[in-house]
Amino acid sequence: MTQTLKTFFIRTYGCQMNELDSEIMSGQLIKKGLKSVDDEEMADLIIFNTCAIRDLAERKVMGKLGLMGRGSKKNVVIGVAGCMAMAKKNALLEKFSHLDFVIGTNNITDLSHVIDEVIETKRQVLKIDSRFEENLDYLATQRQSKIKAHVSIIRGCNKFCTYCVVPYTRGCEVSRPPESIIEECQSLVDRGYKEITLLGQNVNSYGNDQPEWNCRFHDLLYRLNSIRGLERIRFMTSHPVDITIELMHAIRDLPSICEFVHFPMQAGSNAILNKMHRIYTIEQYFEKVAMLREIVPNVSLGTDIIVGFPTETNAQFEETYEAMKKIRFSLSFIFAYSPRKGTPAKRWKDDIPNAVKEERLHRLLELQNQITNAELQQMLGQNLEVLVEKFNKDGKTLKGRTRCWKKVIFEGPANCIGTLQQVRAHSFSYQTMLGTLEGSK
Ligand code: SAH
Ligand code: SF4
Ligand code: F3S
Repeated sequence: MTQTLKTFFIRTYGCQMNELDSEIMSGQLIKKGLKSVDDEEMADLIIFNTCAIRDLAERKVMGKLGLMGRGSKKNVVIGVAGCMAMAKKNALLEKFSHLDFVIGTNNITDLSHVIDEVIETKRQVLKIDSRFEENLDYLATQRQSKIKAHVSIIRGCNKFCTYCVVPYTRGCEVSRPPESIIEECQSLVDRGYKEITLLGQNVNSYGNDQPEWNCRFHDLLYRLNSIRGLERIRFMTSHPVDITIELMHAIRDLPSICEFVHFPMQAGSNAILNKMHRIYTIEQYFEKVAMLREIVPNVSLGTDIIVGFPTETNAQFEETYEAMKKIRFSLSFIFAYSPRKGTPAKRWKDDIPNAVKEERLHRLLELQNQITNAELQQMLGQNLEVLVEKFNKDGKTLKGRTRCWKKVIFEGPANCIGTLQQVRAHSFSYQTMLGTLEGSK
């Protein structure tokens, strides 16, 4: 008797790209006739969509997979997808005999076939291609939110920063045809979506691999801006080197583009930036920031920072500290360096003790807290445009975000959800603005 799968559960680790891939995989499984369940225990098929960016992310999944082996009920099909699948490939199948399949980030479209093969052959199946071919059924994507959606515009990365696994786990840059992106965005707006975040490891490279399309990232933004009813467009992430003046003009001129740019600085010392192969100097980074702020005066900036990169001295760390103080990002994600197998930086000794990494990380977090608090303080009394997303955890107040990504909580009726509202900021707590509903936009 062949086994039939009725229900599935996907556990997602890692970045927005992975979250979107899980939503695309869900769409495929639903098309195949399976039903999504919220409880892993109830699922006939469990997929771990994994992340390999830092050691901790990987350890979490390895622990979980090990546990599944001991208690797993019979007949459950278990698969690993995502970046760890790419980084470890067959080694995962060898280590965990209860794993049924491993499927790479460039093979999402093969999911249905892989599952069929597992059931038919009762063998472990590995499906990994190093290059992405445009072949996904985007319109079937099964999304968590009915208001905001992620849309993939370019996959892979050609930058090869020395610490980073992404170019190996996602392959080289492959842009998605503009018509396909526009079709998906239009269909989302037709179904009531208000905000779209365009995703890519480096959205600013969009179109570079397809010069004959004559559609660079800013061209795409102009085209998307003309979709009526699309209130907000966001994008992430931008590599500082590729942020163009045309993009800055697009942010200034196109009403739907939110004034928030996440463009990771990573470090403030030229020696470290060079070793990271970030291909810009801190002076060039400052220049980009200055230009962006001149063209879009109300822009908010976000960054990622790595502390404790090999050989980072105290003085070099202080340069990062000073750069953050100077730029005053609205948002920063700060990470302790974690050596990754297969990356060039792995060849260098991971010579900064954990305690030092932790201390540096803590200092930057403190600094960022001060900066964010001062920013929120300045916003008090202002009327903020909030896209209302859902009820807050308390089940009473509503939650949404401003154009510049600030979280806002306020009291209001449920029918505000999915609309733009004006909210007057009156206080803040833990980086969240609290406000009073003033009315619709
Ligand atoms: N494509 C994005 C970032 C993808 S990874 C970009 O380049 O902007 C998200 C962040 O994880 C990176 O910006 C970096 O700050 C951090 N990161 C990547 N590899 C890391 C490593 N080996 N150790 C610690 N942090 C890392
Ligand atoms: Fe990784 Fe650098 Fe590519 Fe970002 S730009 S994904 S940090 S290699
Ligand atoms: Fe994202 Fe982690 Fe892969 S951050 S691209 S899921 S390594």
